[in-house]
Amino acid sequence: MGKEAAAIIFLFLSFYSLEIFVAAAATSPLNSSTDDEHSLLAIKSHIITSDPNNILASNWSVGTDFCTWIGVTCSRKHPRVTELDLYNMGLQGTIAKEIGNLSFLTILILANNNLSGSIPSSLGNLTKLELLDLSYTRLSGEIPLSLGQLSNLEYLDIYHSFLDCTVMFEDHFSNLSKLSTLVVSSLKFKLRLDWVPPFQLRQLALVSCDIGGQFPQWVQMQKELEYLQIENCSISDTLSNSIYNSKNLTALYLPNNHIQGPIPNNISRMLPILDVLYLEKNHINGSLPDSLCEIKSLQVMDLSENHLSGNIPGCFGNLQGLEFMKLSSNEISGIVPNSIGGAYSLEWLHLNNNNLTGKLPYTMKNCTKLKVVDIGDNMFSGNLPKWTGNYLLDLRVLRIRNNKFNGQIPLEVCQLLKLQMLDLANNNLTGGIPNCFGNLSGMVVNPKSNNDHFPTNYGGYWNAESFTEILKGQEREYSDKISRLLVYLDVSNNILVGEIPWELTRLSGLHGLNLSHNHLVGKIPERIGDMKSMESLDLSDNNLSGTIPHSLSDLSSISHLNLSHNNLSGKIPTGRQLQTLDNPSIYEGNPQLCGAPLPKKCEEASMVPSITNNLVAANEGDNIIDDKVLLSIVIISGFATGFLGVIGVLVFNKSWRQAYFEFAEEKISRLFGG
Ligand SMILES: *[C@@H]1O[C@H](CO)[C@@H](O)[C@H](O)[C@H]1NC(C)=O
Ligand SMILES: *[C@@H]1O[C@H](CO)[C@@H](O)[C@H](O)[C@H]1NC(C)=O
Ligand SMILES: *[C@@H]1O[C@H](CO)[C@@H](O)[C@H](O)[C@H]1NC(C)=O
Ligand SMILES: *[C@@H]1O[C@H](CO)[C@@H](O)[C@H](O)[C@H]1NC(C)=O
Ligand SMILES: *[C@@H]1O[C@H](CO)[C@@H](O)[C@H](O)[C@H]1NC(C)=O
Ligand SMILES: *[C@@H]1O[C@H](CO)[C@@H](O)[C@H](O)[C@H]1NC(C)=O
Ligand SMILES: *[C@@H]1O[C@H](CO)[C@@H](O)[C@H](O)[C@H]1NC(C)=O
Ligand SMILES: *[C@@H]1O[C@H](CO)[C@@H](O)[C@H](O)[C@H]1NC(C)=O
Ligand SMILES: *[C@@H]1O[C@H](CO)[C@@H](O)[C@H](O)[C@H]1NC(C)=O
Ligand SMILES: *[C@@H]1O[C@H](CO)[C@@H](O)[C@H](O)[C@H]1NC(C)=O
Ligand SMILES: *[C@@H]1O[C@H](CO)[C@@H](O)[C@H](O)[C@H]1NC(C)=O
Ligand SMILES: *[C@@H]1O[C@H](CO)[C@@H](O)[C@H](O)[C@H]1NC(C)=O
Repeated sequence: MGKEAAAIIFLFLSFYSLEIFVAAAATSPLNSSTDDEHSLLAIKSHIITSDPNNILASNWSVGTDFCTWIGVTCSRKHPRVTELDLYNMGLQGTIAKEIGNLSFLTILILANNNLSGSIPSSLGNLTKLELLDLSYTRLSGEIPLSLGQLSNLEYLDIYHSFLDCTVMFEDHFSNLSKLSTLVVSSLKFKLRLDWVPPFQLRQLALVSCDIGGQFPQWVQMQKELEYLQIENCSISDTLSNSIYNSKNLTALYLPNNHIQGPIPNNISRMLPILDVLYLEKNHINGSLPDSLCEIKSLQVMDLSENHLSGNIPGCFGNLQGLEFMKLSSNEISGIVPNSIGGAYSLEWLHLNNNNLTGKLPYTMKNCTKLKVVDIGDNMFSGNLPKWTGNYLLDLRVLRIRNNKFNGQIPLEVCQLLKLQMLDLANNNLTGGIPNCFGNLSGMVVNPKSNNDHFPTNYGGYWNAESFTEILKGQEREYSDKISRLLVYLDVSNNILVGEIPWELTRLSGLHGLNLSHNHLVGKIPERIGDMKSMESLDLSDNNLSGTIPHSLSDLSSISHLNLSHNNLSGKIPTGRQLQTLDNPSIYEGNPQLCGAPLPKKCEEASMVPSITNNLVAANEGDNIIDDKVLLSIVIISGFATGFLGVIGVLVFNKSWRQAYFEFAEEKISRLFGG
């Protein structure tokens, strides 16, 4: 949950709490307030290491009114706790069983704390509880069956709550007749096949759960679902069995399962108001049905990493609200239809890794909102389209790697001032590298806007936090770095001639520059050292000559360097970060180069022994490894991979927000007699 979202929620929930209290107080015994204080103090005492700021230790102090304690909300007239919200307070410890004595509690949020131990079974005493959020804690043990007694519970979030494989039984749900949002991960469900749940959910998310391999019947019975996410749960049904048949479904999110079979021909009748269709990483085959085009509400469609074949239907141009389309890594062939220009809301277009041919249609110039175009790894041919530079002025990422484009790089590309990633590698491009590449201001460091690098704000939910989430599974601490790495220029493996324009050295934001495997001549630009962000520089397999500019040693972040197989001569510069790149293969194939790390000594004794600061080298060495990992995440796997997962989290977060939001909103309208 983002800070912003949290703020909205708090606003609504605290508003809500005031009102609910009025309703609740009338029927309540009034002498239990000291018990509430005892319970809170018991909860505090189970927090072993208090939060870094010691908030509870200093704020929850005896002798002060517990209703003013941080995270505590009491009803207005009587000192009974109605809400306990300790979201992300850095708490560590267990949940005290006395929590079950806070009998007026309606909202309990302990999410994003490093809790351990199990959920106390006294929780089942909180019969007024409506919202329970234990997500991102680290609980263990069984979930108490008393959970099933919370007959007023509407919102249950135990996403990323349990470390071990905890089991859920029917009894856990026995009396949850008001449950409307259920978010769980990493649990095993042991339910009878014919179990009839007591609830009708509106939002359901099951992530990495064992639900028995088939699309569960109890899910089919949820006739009011608006959001359904079943991710990484090994469902191997056919798609028509797995597609949820609810007219109110707006988001269907079933990535990373083993779903088979074609997309049903009547999908638009099954899911008429869908906004989000996410079927990434399954075994779906067959062709794309025209029926998809009839879901006019579609905004996000991700069908990547399946076995889809056939052509892109001409009718896709009817999807005027479509913002994100990803068909990557299928077996789709044929051309991109002219009608694509009708899908003018498109911001993200991923067609990479298919068998598409022909030119990009000129009509695509109508899609002026495009931020990301990835058509890499196909068989597109012809000249690079000039119109991209004239119309697609919002482009951040243009990736046409591994196609059969020929002709010169059009100068119009230089008008794409927001471009951060340009990958033209592995084509048949001729002519020179345009000098005007130096004008690509998106590749220049802007010290003010470090976070501005992304093709931002897909639906307003694209932010650094999403990346933190994504990367948690892989490399937690890299979250903020990955955005840096999206500044990249790659024209390798073409037939480019001429010199490296010195103007390229203006691109101080580039983290990667690859000009290798071309026919470039002349010298390495003297001011190459100005490209301060450079982490990976590859100029190998050209005909570059002259000496290596000494400024190369100013590239203090460089971790990958390849100058091999050119005609470079003279002494290899030394110093700083370069000193750590001591693999001779970096320079091999340049017979006239000399000096370390090559075995060939330089003739003149002009070498001042360079003092290597071991400490610095070692420290920087550590970073190198990190950055290499990062680079490989972004570059080798294709930066597209970064985007893959994100949308899922976005969708998930969005729904989470929505759920909270709606929960609060609903309460308000109910309490105001709406
Ligand atoms: C306090 O509440 C309890 C029940 O929780 C009740 O038995 C008792 O009579 C009450 N005491 C007073 C003084 O109201
Ligand atoms: C606890 O924090 C709340 C909110 O910041 C404040 O109003 C209250 O006075 C604090 N109480 C103590 C004892 O520090
Ligand atoms: C508080 O909770 C404990 C443990 O659940 C229980 O033994 C005790 O009776 C409760 N106290 C009151 C006053 O309800
Ligand atoms: C979480 O708490 C456990 C002990 O309960 C501790 O070993 C672990 O280091 C903590 N993790 C974090 C991230 O604070
Ligand atoms: C509260 O929960 C405990 C443990 O589940 C139970 O023994 C006790 O009877 C419950 N108290 C009330 C008042 O329901
Ligand atoms: C379920 O709730 C109803 C009232 O809401 C109550 O009468 C019933 O005893 C509860 N059943 C269980 C198993 O908690
Ligand atoms: C998928 O779920 C399995 C457990 O069912 C888990 O081990 C694995 O890490 C999950 N994969 C992802 C990508 O979340
Ligand atoms: C679908 O949504 C509409 C409008 O929100 C609502 O009136 C209707 O009851 C819902 N239908 C189902 C089956 O939940
Ligand atoms: C879609 O088609 C399948 C069979 O092809 C049929 O069973 C199902 O009822 C149809 N659904 C709708 C909503 O038309
Ligand atoms: C592309 O098509 C060729 C034949 O036309 C086929 O051999 C190849 O497997 C296809 N590649 C993919 C990725 O579908
Ligand atoms: C081009 O986009 C506009 C909206 O910007 C849309 O109204 C128009 O129909 C599109 N033209 C074509 C040929 O698709
Ligand atoms: C690239 O162009 C050369 C001739 O200029 C041609 O022989 C080769 O087949 C082309 N390669 C591709 C992948 O189109």
